[in-house]
Amino acid sequence: MPPLAAILLVPVLLFVVKSKPINTFAGPYIIFGHRYNPCQSQGVFVVQVRISHFNPKRPYDLQTATGNITLKEDFADGYWASGTMAVRSNNQWKENAFVFNFPRKGCSVIREQFPDMYRFFAEATGAPVADKTAPCVLPKGTFVVPEPRPVNATLPNIPILPYGRYWYRGTLSRTRNSPSPLACVEFDCEVIPKP
Ligand SMILES: *[C@@H]1O[C@H](CO)[C@@H](O)[C@H](O)[C@H]1NC(C)=O
Ligand SMILES: *[C@@H]1O[C@H](CO)[C@@H](O)[C@H](O)[C@H]1NC(C)=O
Repeated sequence: MPPLAAILLVPVLLFVVKSKPINTFAGPYIIFGHRYNPCQSQGVFVVQVRISHFNPKRPYDLQTATGNITLKEDFADGYWASGTMAVRSNNQWKENAFVFNFPRKGCSVIREQFPDMYRFFAEATGAPVADKTAPCVLPKGTFVVPEPRPVNATLPNIPILPYGRYWYRGTLSRTRNSPSPLACVEFDCEVIPKP
């Protein structure tokens, strides 16, 4: 999963954890992506990546990402993130099962909540990887990840999630009332029990 997605996805996951389980079972999990799409935005931050297929027979193999990252301004904190999440239930997407807003966040959410995604982006953009006390900023620029690079989708602060299939759409805006988002990401993803 790409970085902006991570920024936006993590609060949703936290929200799910705090709410009642929406499926019959929740617990230790592996999360993987079926599909990733960039969606309509101003294109200030664009992550165009392909993610590799997840192989259910080798659930501990990491998915890889390859593609392009375009940051038209430095990506730090201070944005307005919002997301909607649909849940797959009875062969239908239940739209907007969750809606949330997450003010004044950005880079540091990824670094804290989805550390290996942060590493992926930091390595791609030349930002510091190991120093957790450095200001969290991905410098503007256009970056290419030409070869598939693994991303470990471990979310260390979220030990348990409800199992199921989710369609996540996240946007990042300058302020709450911005008419058009700076960035938009969509994921079709799944949470399965850890074998
Ligand atoms: C990345 O950018 C290059 C050059 O613009 C393009 O050829 C390639 O298809 C892009 N890759 C992805 C995954 O979008
Ligand atoms: C992914 O990260 C977790 C937590 O650091 C680690 O336990 C696990 O071994 C890693 N998986 C792989 C395949 O490296």
